[in-house]
Amino acid sequence: MGHTDPLIAAADHALLPGSREHFWMPFSPNKEFKREPRLFVRAQGMYCYTPEGREVIDASSGLFCVAAGHCRPEIARAVYEQMSTLDFVAPFLRAHPRSFELAERVAQYTPAGLNRVFFVNSGSEAVDTAMKMALMVHRVRGQPQRQLFISRERAYHGVNMGGVSLAGMANNRRAFGTGLAGVYHMRHTALPENRFAKGQPEHGAELADDLQRFCQLYGGENIAAVFVEPTAGSFGCLPPPRGYLDRLRAICDAHGILLVFDEVITGWGRMGANFGAQAFGVTPDIMTMAKAITNGAQPMGAVAARQSVYDAITEAGPATGVEFFHGYTYSAHPAACAAGLAMMDIFRDERLIERAAAMTPYFLDAIFSLRDLPVITDIRGVGMMAAIDVAPDAVPGARGHEAQKRLYDAGLNLKSTGDALIIAPPFVAERHHIDEIAGKLRTVLAGL
Ligand SMILES: Cc1ncc(COP(=O)(O)O)c(C=O)c1O
Repeated sequence: MGHTDPLIAAADHALLPGSREHFWMPFSPNKEFKREPRLFVRAQGMYCYTPEGREVIDASSGLFCVAAGHCRPEIARAVYEQMSTLDFVAPFLRAHPRSFELAERVAQYTPAGLNRVFFVNSGSEAVDTAMKMALMVHRVRGQPQRQLFISRERAYHGVNMGGVSLAGMANNRRAFGTGLAGVYHMRHTALPENRFAKGQPEHGAELADDLQRFCQLYGGENIAAVFVEPTAGSFGCLPPPRGYLDRLRAICDAHGILLVFDEVITGWGRMGANFGAQAFGVTPDIMTMAKAITNGAQPMGAVAARQSVYDAITEAGPATGVEFFHGYTYSAHPAACAAGLAMMDIFRDERLIERAAAMTPYFLDAIFSLRDLPVITDIRGVGMMAAIDVAPDAVPGARGHEAQKRLYDAGLNLKSTGDALIIAPPFVAERHHIDEIAGKLRTVLAGL
């Protein structure tokens, strides 16, 4: 105890039962975790390490963040140098050059036209920021009645009140009352006939017509925006049926509704292209992003808007006054911008997104090869993301939860949601890493 090596000290501390009480863990079973903690104290490349020094392959890139692998020295150096030079600048009325530089670099990856970038600190903040942009641009264009939002069942849009109102995951909404008024949910696209579909499923494009029904019922002229994840991520990888996103786009255009893609997971290469927008060939009006923008090394999110959205809002404002009454103390934080810029260099120099696309067939084949295991009821996958559904037992979600614990114990880290196990490895994964992931999944799921 009290060891001077910080890693060993962290490991010692991690094992102290009395020290576990004060931290209120997010989205975790606190009581269970504090009885039997599953910790990491170190990470490198494809692996995280437990306090006992056990190696655990990171099959979900942390939480879909660590696209370039853990503990990239380029990012660590950039953040350290930034923190030693300029640690903080008020983001309102003041700025630092790196925020402009990063916005320009981000706009090189977003679809043409979506070139105005607003920085925030998380995906949840990005979603609520995008909602405000949508409301405001309609207001300045003389359509203040556009107050309704449409999203989808099984969607995850973060946990702020706007995003939770959009969300279609029951547990995330239920405890918190009614949420924002005026949010309606289209049906999700998980159809039985799409089971074990690799890539975009064939069935379900017509589910986009739910939006048309809402336009008739509530008046298309009253709808501000439609929010969708191009592939629903947190619920367990639901790729869009072929033609579905195109149909949403067409209905939005017919009614003057903004289409917003929540690309917090699907952005930055996860779908095998820069963003889901390019992967699926449909361009939204606004897109959110977070996570891999800094490789997860600093908290950061962003919203990319069409220049026409930015122009409308800024031109409507007074000559020298604030145009958009929104922002966070830590918007475009220097450390996050430094991490983001270092990550942009990694994307460029290592052709990381191309690398993800090249590994995709091997990755999906490996995960779909598990299909013969009796406990598996469905597998879905697109790009470098896949989900395996295990058959629920008496309590829905209990078997998935048990699976992720056993997998950690067997040396594999992933994110589970209910009975879905989500696999989304870093893009630096080699074939032998994919083999290791598939092998550990087979061993553990065979005994589940
Ligand atoms: C699609 C989507 N939107 C928003 C969020 C929320 O991001 P954060 O946890 O950074 O607030 C997530 C997180 O996983 C997400 O997947």
